[in-house]
Amino acid sequence: MALQLGDTAPDFTADTTEGTINFHEWIGDGWCILFSHPKDFTPVCTTELGYMAKLKPEFDKRNVKILAVSVDPVSDHHVWVKDIQDTQGILPNYPIVGDQDRKVATLYGMIHPNALDSLTVRTVFVIGPDKKIKLTLTYPASTGRNFDEVLRVVDSLQLTAKHSVATPVNWQQGGECIIVPSLNDEAAKAKFPGGWRTEKPYLRYVPQPK
Ligand code: BEZ
Repeated sequence: MALQLGDTAPDFTADTTEGTINFHEWIGDGWCILFSHPKDFTPVCTTELGYMAKLKPEFDKRNVKILAVSVDPVSDHHVWVKDIQDTQGILPNYPIVGDQDRKVATLYGMIHPNALDSLTVRTVFVIGPDKKIKLTLTYPASTGRNFDEVLRVVDSLQLTAKHSVATPVNWQQGGECIIVPSLNDEAAKAKFPGGWRTEKPYLRYVPQPK
């Protein structure tokens, strides 16, 4: 069965462009984004890996590590990253797994043979400090992902983890948040002494907690 939200992210040991890693140990007590792309030396992947490198300082601020996966060997990744630097102006500054035996791809259900032979489709997993899966995304090979959206989801997940708020439709940093339904008004008073705006008993807005 496919991995689902709340499942423990499978652990693995793998060779990467930054040496061998043991996944859970490498994540440590922070968060992680694990994402697959179909193949090295392909155009959409080249743009995605460059953009992710540009976003890395934002993920660092949020204590989120980045790990890319493709079914090519690390020796190919080392050549390809130079093309990424040439075309995107930045070298990937996070490890890329060499998954030529498809171990990680199989563990995470990244190969969807009815869509794309034996290559990986574009998946994203956000994994929390408890090693549980918090988000999954699956995109077709031909569509580059919106990694700004992944960053937005991380912000939302971290707000929920820390402050018992959810985020409404199209929420962006600094926007109003929603008190989670599991917090009754009594408990909410203690958490949000500044009060909130009630539109319905189940729809209570608060300014974004700091
Ligand atoms: C790409 O990254 O450009 C790509 C890879 C596989 C199929 C289609 C596009």
